[in-house]
Amino acid sequence: MKIGLIGSGTVAQTLAAGFLKHGYEVMLGTRDTARLAAWQASNPEARLGSFAQAAAFGEAVVLAVKGNVAAQALRAAGADNLAGKPLLDACNPIADAPPVNGVLSFFTTYGDSLMEQLQCEFPQAHFVKVFNSVGAARMVNPEFKAGKPTMFICGNDAGAKATVTKILDQFGWETADMGAAEAARAIEPLCMLWCIPGFQRNLWTHAFKLLIE
Ligand SMILES: NC(=O)c1ccc[n+]([C@@H]2O[C@H](COP(=O)([O-])OP(=O)(O)OC[C@H]3O[C@@H](n4cnc5c(N)ncnc54)[C@H](OP(=O)(O)O)[C@@H]3O)[C@@H](O)[C@H]2O)c1
Repeated sequence: MKIGLIGSGTVAQTLAAGFLKHGYEVMLGTRDTARLAAWQASNPEARLGSFAQAAAFGEAVVLAVKGNVAAQALRAAGADNLAGKPLLDACNPIADAPPVNGVLSFFTTYGDSLMEQLQCEFPQAHFVKVFNSVGAARMVNPEFKAGKPTMFICGNDAGAKATVTKILDQFGWETADMGAAEAARAIEPLCMLWCIPGFQRNLWTHAFKLLIE
């Protein structure tokens, strides 16, 4: 399967390496391919392109850009290049304000989420919230003594969620499907919770696990 990534930061690079490791074809999308020359030299199997080229390349598309420019990046990628495809949304709507006692601020409200805003603007893409509630260093085949961590996902398209669940199986995660896009109102703030031990005690290596009897 071909994966196009919109974004070239830590998350996009980490996931791209994960997809390559698991045998996918990958194109990383950026506004400035020249800046990624060193990355491409160490990942010669990967392709580099614009946001639009990466979106067109992917049979599934990953969105991993700063939350406040996510819509802008998708507009540059082009709605037609996203239509009918699973869109793995790792973004968090983090506001520019500094954390207060370790607690980040979001630019969304409790009755809304970034992913719903994006799904509304790009109705033909099949958004799935995923990878937003763990640090990049633990996204691909993380090892914890307590076993597999849980990735909370949501989205409106069952087929896209099945694709994402298969990817999460390969990436060493247990998937907890929280339902439709509205569940992103709960999944996005997991980022705030996840970051508190980091800002307060410099602990950045944990992940969430859902325990079910
Ligand atoms: N870092 C983590 O551990 C982590 C974990 C979970 C979720 N997340 C979320 O994942 C997303 C990506 O995080 P990140 O740390 O990898 O990188 P980031 O610094 O949040 O974002 C980098 C990307 O944003 C793009 N970008 C910046 N300004 C832009 C603009 N004006 N228009 C279009 N694109 C723009 C950059 O594009 P260019 O390539 O063109 O420069 C780059 O690809 C964020 O929403 C973050 O909250 C991060």
